[in-house]
Amino acid sequence: MEKIKFFSKDTDVNEKSILIRLDFNVPINKKKISDTTRIDFVIPFLKSLSDNKAKVIILSHLGRPNGKKIKEMSLYPIFQYLKKKIGEIVFFLDDEINVNLKNKISNFKYGDIVLLENIRYYKEEIDNNEKFAKVLASLGDIYINDAFSCCHRKQASIHEIAKQINSCFAGPLLKKELSSINMILEDKKKPITCILGGSKISTKIKIINNLVKTAQNICLVGAMANNFFLYQGHKVGKSLIEKNTKKLIEEIYSNAQEFDCKISVPIDCIVSKNFTEIGNKKNIDEIDNEDIVLDIGPKTLDNLIKKIESSKTILWNGPAGYFENSHFAEGTNQIAKKISSLTAQGRILSVVGGGDTVSAINNISQKLKFTHLSTAGGAFLEFLEGKDLPGLDVLK
Ligand code: 3PG
Repeated sequence: MEKIKFFSKDTDVNEKSILIRLDFNVPINKKKISDTTRIDFVIPFLKSLSDNKAKVIILSHLGRPNGKKIKEMSLYPIFQYLKKKIGEIVFFLDDEINVNLKNKISNFKYGDIVLLENIRYYKEEIDNNEKFAKVLASLGDIYINDAFSCCHRKQASIHEIAKQINSCFAGPLLKKELSSINMILEDKKKPITCILGGSKISTKIKIINNLVKTAQNICLVGAMANNFFLYQGHKVGKSLIEKNTKKLIEEIYSNAQEFDCKISVPIDCIVSKNFTEIGNKKNIDEIDNEDIVLDIGPKTLDNLIKKIESSKTILWNGPAGYFENSHFAEGTNQIAKKISSLTAQGRILSVVGGGDTVSAINNISQKLKFTHLSTAGGAFLEFLEGKDLPGLDVLK
C-alpha cells in the first residue's frame, strides 16, 4: 500500500488538465439514478480540483456495452446530476475519442469539469489497448484513479493509461477504501463471520475458498444459495441458478472442513410466483416448480442474527434477496440494521461492500453505521482474496 502514489493536497493542479477515472456505474431506471452514492462520494474532490483551477476531465463507464454505443448506457443522466450538484462549470462531451479530442478539450477553461461519454462504448477500452490509452493520456497532464471499485479491471482507462502519463496518482476515495479495508484486515478479531450474497458461485469460489482460512462462519444468502438447495436435493422452481456447480460446492465444503469454517445456507425462504406480488414463507424442502426464491425466511434470519451477535468481525457483500421490492427486502434490511447497531455499540468491526448492498442500505430510511462501507463489489472481493489488482499495481 505504501508504494502506491497517492494524490496529496500539495500536488500542484493550478492550470493543469487532470484526467480522473471515476466509477459512475450507478443503477439507472428510466433515465433516473436510483442510487447516487458513488457520485456523491467524489463530488467534494471534484469541487476542490475545480476550486484550485484545474481543468477536470472525467472518464467513467456505465454498464457493460462491450464496445457498442448503447443509448441506455449513456452517462448523460450522470452529467445532469453533477450539474445540479456542482453547477454550470460541469459539461458533457460526447465527441468521439480520437486524436482530435484534444483540440476540443483545449476550449474548456481551467476550473471546468468535463464528463466524457461512457468509456466502454470503445472496445479498445476493454482490450486495454495501448494506442487508445495514449489518446486518452494526451488529454491530461496528470492522471488520477479514484475508482477503487474498478481496479480489478485491466482496461485502458484504469491500467494502460497510467503507463502513458508521467504523473499518476490514486485519489482520496481510493486511499480511504484501501486504508479502511487494510485496517480492518489487520485489526480483525475472531469470530469472523462473512455474509455473502449475489448470484454466481463461480465468480466467488476463490474468495470463498480464501475466506474459509480466516473466517469461522460463512453464511451464503441470495441467489447463490439456490445452488446449495439443488445440491441438497431440493427443488428451486424458477429461481436463478448457475449451471454445473456441484463440483464447486463440493470444493467449498471440503476446504471449509479442512480449515474448520462453518458454511451455512438458508433453511427457509420467501417465495413468490413473480417479482411483484407478496411472497409466502416456505421451508427449503417445500419449494415447488413454480416458485421463485426471493428472500431468506424468518428462521434463517433468526439464525443469521444470532451469528452476527456472537461475532467480533463481519464482512458482508451481497443482498439476501430481491430487495428492490420491499416485500423481499426484510432479510437484507434486518441484517443491515443488526450489523449497524452492533457497530455503533462498538461490539463489532464491520466491512460492508458492493454496489447492490450499498443501494439496499440506502433504501433503508434509518441512518446506519458501519466501520467501513465500500462502494466496490468485485474489486473489494478480489482485494480480500489477496489478488493483485491491475489498477493498483500500475500506480506503484
Ligand atoms: C462495479 O460496479 O463493481 C464496477 O463499476 C465494475 O463494473 P464491472 O463489473 O462491469 O467491471
